Amino acid sequence: MKRLRAAVLISGRGSNMTALMEAAKRHAYPTTIALVLSNRPAAVGLARAKAAGVATAVVDHCAYGRDRESFERAMQEVLDQHGIDIVCLAGFMRLLSPRFVARWEQRILNIHPALLPSFKGLDTHRRALSAGVKIHGASVHFVSAEMDSGPIVIQGALAVREDDDAETLAARVLEVEHRIYPIALHLVASGRVQVVDGRCVIAGASSPPEPLIAPQTT
Ligand code: GRF
Repeated sequence: MKRLRAAVLISGRGSNMTALMEAAKRHAYPTTIALVLSNRPAAVGLARAKAAGVATAVVDHCAYGRDRESFERAMQEVLDQHGIDIVCLAGFMRLLSPRFVARWEQRILNIHPALLPSFKGLDTHRRALSAGVKIHGASVHFVSAEMDSGPIVIQGALAVREDDDAETLAARVLEVEHRIYPIALHLVASGRVQVVDGRCVIAGASSPPEPLIAPQTT
């Protein structure tokens, strides 16, 4: 099996990156993490990737000012140099242009800490708590030109607890993220995901039989 070469794009601590790197160590996993690319030189995840022996690169967006085209061209060059087949955004805090997204169509994934299409954007956990939702979670989706949009590959949900604050909720959602991102990349890289009418159809997928009902009452 020829393994696809994935790049993980980060801006910060890189815990999802680490989850992907761990998954990719498995013999049967269909991708290798060939590159970790950050737009911030100080991203903690860069050191983690280096320590794990993964190639790293920095394309500092500050050096390009408002010239997004040049910034993205520089990123594309690095991706080309490393022979990248598929891109995983993992806490990458820059908006990408329609041109860049089109270049990677159906080969670029993002993880978002909410059940899309609810709570796009930042600060999702605090907003979910304010809205009083009882079920919250995370989504991995193909990236489209619009922020936090694009066909959803997988979602993970959990019950919001009465005593949750944004931090406790974020911590539990992050555990869900670390489970679903490796599965999503596996599904996409092994060719099991087809986009039909803007929705992902997953070959050989089943759904858990039980609904998640929250809260539970006695
Ligand atoms: C995650 O919550 C991810 O969903 C969001 O940014 C955060 C990145 O965390 N897009 P990490 O860098 O993967 O630890």
